[in-house]
Amino acid sequence: MQNFIVTGGTRLCGELELQGSKNSALPIMAACVLVSGKCLLKSCPRLTDVYSAARILNCLGCKCSLSGGCAEIDSTGVYGSEIPEELMREMRSSIMFMGAILGRTGECTFSIPGGCELGPRPIDMHLAALSKMGAEITDTGGRICCRMPKGRSKGARLSLSFPSVGATENIILCAVTAEGETVINNAAREPEICDMCRFLRSCGAKIKGDGESCIVIEGVEKLHGCEYRIMPDRIAGATYLAMTAAAGGELILKNACVPETEPFTTVLEQTGCGIYTAENRIYLRRGGRLKAVKDRIRTMPHPGFPTDAQAVLMAVLVTADGTSVFEENIFDCRYRHTDALIKMGADIQVMGKAAVIRGVPRLHGADVEATDLRGGAAMAVAALAAEGTTRIGSISHIDRGYERFEEAITSLGGKIRRE
Ligand code: EPU
Repeated sequence: MQNFIVTGGTRLCGELELQGSKNSALPIMAACVLVSGKCLLKSCPRLTDVYSAARILNCLGCKCSLSGGCAEIDSTGVYGSEIPEELMREMRSSIMFMGAILGRTGECTFSIPGGCELGPRPIDMHLAALSKMGAEITDTGGRICCRMPKGRSKGARLSLSFPSVGATENIILCAVTAEGETVINNAAREPEICDMCRFLRSCGAKIKGDGESCIVIEGVEKLHGCEYRIMPDRIAGATYLAMTAAAGGELILKNACVPETEPFTTVLEQTGCGIYTAENRIYLRRGGRLKAVKDRIRTMPHPGFPTDAQAVLMAVLVTADGTSVFEENIFDCRYRHTDALIKMGADIQVMGKAAVIRGVPRLHGADVEATDLRGGAAMAVAALAAEGTTRIGSISHIDRGYERFEEAITSLGGKIRRE
C-alpha cells in the first residue's frame, strides 16, 4: 500500500495541462465495443480505471493497447458477451459495457459493479430502460443476464425518474444500433455524455439533443472506426484550482473546458480568489484570506454544482473566514472525507444531507486514509494548505482518477512524494 507524504505551507505557482477526462474516457472505451473496426482515442488518461476498462475490452475479444496517452481499440473480432465478476468489481463504469455489449451482440452477462462507496448505487434505472428496449433479464445468484430475444434491441420512449449519468449513457449505447428511434426524457446533461455522443457521431451514430434533457437516437445498422480526442477533465481541473485556492498562489490551467467548469468556478470565485478565463484557459490567483461562501452550496445534476467537486471545495472552505454550508443531493454517503479534515483541525458538522463548515485559521498535518477518489483528492488539497506534514494512505483511490498526481503538484512547487 502506497502513501502520499505532503508537506503544506508552500504557495503553488505555475501552469498545468489538463489530463483527458476519466468520466468521458470510460464510456467512450465501452462505446468502442459497438464499432466494427479500429478507433484511436487521443488524450486517454493514464489511470487505473482506464487500465480496468482495457482489460474488459480485451476479455471481450477487442484488441486494446494503451501507449503514450493514446488508446487503440480494434473491436472487429468481438467474441465475448460476458464480463467476469472480478473485472466488474474494479470500478463503477464497468456497467457502461452492458449497453454497448447488448448493442453489439444482443446479449450480456455481468454482475453488480464496484466503484467508490458513496452510498447505495443501484442500477434499477439502467435495467428498466433496457427491458423497455426488449431485453429479457434474469438474475442467477448475482450474475445478471440480459438478452435481446430478436438479437437486436428496439427503440423505445423512456423517461428517467432522475437524470442518472450512467443510465443515460447506457441507454444511448444500447440505442445507437437499435431498430428504430429511442427518446430519453429527463436525460442527464453532463458534458461527458456530450463527449461520448460526439465520439459516437464520429463513428456514424445518429444522436440529437445531448446536453439537453431530451435526447433522440435513431438506430443505425453499423458503426465505423474513427480518431477522437477525449475532452479535458473538468473535475481534475476543479481539484487543481481548489489546491491553489487553499494553499495560495497562481495557477494557469491550460486545455481547460471553461463553460463546463463554470458551475464550480462561479462558487470558488466567492471565496475572494481572482478567476479569469480566456478561450481554453482558466487563471486563478489567491492573495489574501479566503471568505466563506454565503449561499448554501447544493450539489445538483449538471449544470448545477457538481457532486464530484464537493469534497475539494470543502477542503478550501475549512480555512475560510465565516461559515459555509453544503447540501449533498446526489449521493447518500459522500461526506466520508470529513473525518480526515476534522483530524487536520477543521470544524465540520454533518447533519444528514447538510455539512456546516466553520472556518478555522489554519489546519495541521495528520495521518489520514483516502476514503474514495474525490475525498482522497480533498485530503491532498487540505494537506497542501496545512502546517506540517500529512500522510495520506489508501492512495489507490486517488490513482483511479488523477494522472501523475504528484508530478502535477510538484511542478507547481507543492511538496508531495509517493512512498
Ligand atoms: N441511481 C439510482 N438508480 C440507477 C442509477 C442511479 O438510484 O439506476 C442513483 C444513484 O444511486 C445516485 C444518483 O442516482 O444516487 C446519481 O447517480 P448517476 O447514475 O448519475 O451516477 P453514476 O453514473 O454512477 C457518474 C460519475 C460519478 C459522478 C456521478 C454524478 C462516472 C464513471 N461516474 O456516476 O463520478 O459522481 O455520475 O455526476 O461517470 C467520480 O468521478 O468520482 C464519480 C463518482
